[in-house]
Amino acid sequence: MTNELLSEWLQSSNSTVILTGAGMSTESGVPDFRSTSGWWKNIDPRTVATTEALAQNYSLFHEFYKMRIENLEKVAPHEGHQILADWEKRGIVSLVATQNVDGFHQLAGSQRVEELHGSIRSIRCHRCEKAAPIESFLHKESCVHCGGKLRPNVVLFGENLPQVSWNNAMEAIRAAELVLVIGTSLEVYPVNQLPMMTKGKTAYINLDIAHHAVQFDLTIEGKVKEVLQQLPL
Ligand code: APR
Repeated sequence: MTNELLSEWLQSSNSTVILTGAGMSTESGVPDFRSTSGWWKNIDPRTVATTEALAQNYSLFHEFYKMRIENLEKVAPHEGHQILADWEKRGIVSLVATQNVDGFHQLAGSQRVEELHGSIRSIRCHRCEKAAPIESFLHKESCVHCGGKLRPNVVLFGENLPQVSWNNAMEAIRAAELVLVIGTSLEVYPVNQLPMMTKGKTAYINLDIAHHAVQFDLTIEGKVKEVLQQLPL
């Protein structure tokens, strides 16, 4: 059974890196992006998740991120996040690299987390880069230092990923004996290149594995929380 095999790999690996995407948080009530109920099914990402959108239609940009930030008040990490945090405590996992901006891995107790697409929980000025309170963003205020537009510290399409986080994740994956990819469509560059950078084994847990199954040594098709709960570890 693949569950047993993955458990064996997790227990015998001396360095395991987990790479997560939005499928990690849907069972907490946070929509993903490309599933039928995902954000990009109703919104064209180019109209809200780009620096052009920020510059040319700040009201729509602001409304999209304000809604996502306020939604975070109503949701929380689920047991799947807690299981990954427990694996870190038990020395089973050395790093979680995530595309998610919800901060759920840290809230669930994971200490070593690299947020490759930044975080929606902190705000900066798009012009002078100075930090600003999240309330100032929610109230649609301008930067007190330069009058510039405030924005969340998420990586917008076309922007560079945070260099330190990227390097840490890439080095850890290169050196890993096992890379476990959870809840991502692997549609977005450059994160979708990471799993294949390892010389170690690769495994993929996702609702829909069809597009990428061939790339992985082991695949488990299913819901993240259930699969993680059922792993005999
Ligand atoms: N269990 C397992 N898999 C799930 C679950 C679940 N409960 N819910 C959704 N999935 C799967 C979907 O089938 C899909 O393959 O998770 C994947 C989510 O893919 P996307 O919606 O594309 O999200 P992600 O891969 O994280 O997107 C990457 O795209 O828009 C940008 O910046 C955004 O970080 C995001 C990036």
